[in-house]
Amino acid sequence: MITSPSSADLLSWYDIHARDLPWRVSPSDRGLGVVPDPYAVWLSEIMLQQTTVAAVRDYFVKFLRLWPTVKDLATAPEEDVMKAWAGLGYYSRARNLKKCAETIANAYNGNFPKSMDELLKLPGVGPYTAAAISTIAFDSHAAVVDGNVERVVSRLYAIEQPLPDSKPLIKDRMGSLTPADRPGDFAQAVMDLGATICTPKRPACAICPWMEACEARKNGIAETLPRKAPK
Ligand code: ADE
Repeated sequence: MITSPSSADLLSWYDIHARDLPWRVSPSDRGLGVVPDPYAVWLSEIMLQQTTVAAVRDYFVKFLRLWPTVKDLATAPEEDVMKAWAGLGYYSRARNLKKCAETIANAYNGNFPKSMDELLKLPGVGPYTAAAISTIAFDSHAAVVDGNVERVVSRLYAIEQPLPDSKPLIKDRMGSLTPADRPGDFAQAVMDLGATICTPKRPACAICPWMEACEARKNGIAETLPRKAPK
């Protein structure tokens, strides 16, 4: 029997098992239409671009304590921002962070734009980050695909075509899976599934909310996906 993956099943799992991360809304607000502050979402996504969740957590909290709003960050001396960033690496991100904060403060009066076109023009914001901000902060229907999502979706549909050629198909599948209601939570639920259950090695298929639907698990090939083209 073919069981299609249900976004509702994954959201129910997320409501119980979501990682408690400082840039997310509190568990008691989840599912009630409460969205996080776009500034917090943007800041976290820039920090998470090349850095793990574990490493980002404390830096994120420190930045919000030092600069609670994007206007505060925009007026901060650049050397203070660089100093606070020290240790996170990829320092061009910190320089772009400051430039982007200035753009938001000056050109948008401190409010992040909602459209993908405008988000994509911001310094340091590429297609992935624009989609993440748009979906997580504004609940718009944009497919967010990072490494965790690539792994989960490749396995769910047993996509044997190697990365990076499979990227368009994965994005397309993620778009079809994403529900109209709670798309931001859904994107983060797939990320959490990838980080905690659908792990690169020894995925915990027995406790996966998508166990019944997962084609790779049924075919016994979950751990071998996603395939990567030889470099
Ligand atoms: N990696 C990138 N964005 C993330 C998010 N919002 N939650 C967890 N991991 C992430």
